[in-house]
Amino acid sequence: MVVEFKTDAPVAVEQYVDLLIRSGLGQRRPIDDRACIEGMVRNASLLVTAWDGDHLIGAARSLTDFRYACFLSDLAVDRAYQRRGIGRRLLELTRQVLGPRCKIRLISAPLATAYYAMLGFVRNERCWELLPQGASTDA
Ligand SMILES: CC(C)(COP(=O)(O)OP(=O)(O)OC[C@H]1O[C@@H](n2cnc3c(N)ncnc32)[C@H](O)[C@@H]1OP(=O)(O)O)[C@@H](O)C(=O)NCCC(=O)NCCS
Repeated sequence: MVVEFKTDAPVAVEQYVDLLIRSGLGQRRPIDDRACIEGMVRNASLLVTAWDGDHLIGAARSLTDFRYACFLSDLAVDRAYQRRGIGRRLLELTRQVLGPRCKIRLISAPLATAYYAMLGFVRNERCWELLPQGASTDA
């Protein structure tokens, strides 16, 4: 299998929803709200993707100024392709595009906490969120 990595390649909303479902992240993202997902895909400032042919198998979706701060909003790898280094590579490629002093911040899914610790991320107890009414901090 040859995995191809791309930066800012076009991704259809349906492809992205399908990846969210196949990775398991679909449980924590608004996959039933097409307009929201469309905004997430279209307005991301950095989208690094992994492909098996024309099949989308992984994505790292970030909002960033490319210099100081980067919020990694989604990291997802198709379950059938997990544990082969694709998530790690998506993060490496994201870092390569960012300036040398740019920090990456994220909210970890519960099952991925150990993953980020293993990749060198440190927990920041001073991270705060302002949530829209009725939203959960988990989503
Ligand atoms: C978390 C996720 C992106 C990891 O992607 P992946 O391609 O399977 O990860 P990699 O193969 O790059 O893993 C790199 C290392 O982390 C380890 N690892 C993978 N998933 C892990 C986890 N959930 N917890 C702890 N370690 C993990 C791997 O064993 C590997 O270690 P190694 O290099 O010593 O073999 C993927 O499992 C996923 O999409 N999960 C569901 C969605 C999710 O939770 N995303 C994060 C939301 S913030």
